[in-house]
Amino acid sequence: MEIPKKIYFKLRPLILPIKTIIKFIPKNASILDLGCGKGILSNHIRDFESYTGVDLNIELNDPKEKITFIKDNCINFINKDLSSFNTFILIDLLHHLNEKEQILLLSKLIESTKSEDLIIIKDINPRNIIFSFWNNMHDLLISKQKPNYFKFSLFERKLNLEIIKIAGFHERIFLYDHYFFILKKKVNSKRMLQKI
Ligand SMILES: C[S@@+](CC[C@H](N)C(=O)[O-])C[C@H]1O[C@@H](n2cnc3c(N)ncnc32)[C@H](O)[C@@H]1O
Repeated sequence: MEIPKKIYFKLRPLILPIKTIIKFIPKNASILDLGCGKGILSNHIRDFESYTGVDLNIELNDPKEKITFIKDNCINFINKDLSSFNTFILIDLLHHLNEKEQILLLSKLIESTKSEDLIIIKDINPRNIIFSFWNNMHDLLISKQKPNYFKFSLFERKLNLEIIKIAGFHERIFLYDHYFFILKKKVNSKRMLQKI
């Protein structure tokens, strides 16, 4: 179901904890927003250096100052030189990817980031069966896809010591359990996952 951008921008903040997301974005941020959708984040941020949104399905409008949109698959885009960005944001992207793509994307991202870069992940992570059922219905209706909830705790156990977890917490809005997972790279590291 395609919702017009104007209506989407009014409705989306009712279920998206946008204020909490913004709290984590530093003032000097050069943002890469992966799976940016209609670019709602770019509508709410102030005091940033630059914003680049990447999405498979995006309407490319006239470029605005400091704001760029790119139509691409994040799995491909992540192979490019990302050194000009310092803040990487994934809002409700992971549950649209399969498990292999989720790990591939995050591994590549952590490998490519520089020391002190920030990775802000916010994804749906239902904490009970009713919320899970509701979210499945939501995604089937809106994206015609069953969500693949990301296994945050499993992933966290595999992170090596060079990645600092800044925060990991839930925020509930109506029937949506949002999970925040904020990471920072301590030193430049080529290897993200410990050998299993
Ligand atoms: C639930 S929407 C979230 C959009 C936006 N982040 C927001 O919060 O409004 C998920 C978005 O991920 C995009 N997406 C899914 N898989 C993708 C991929 N492999 N590469 C790029 N974008 C993808 C979809 O097109 C969709 O716009």
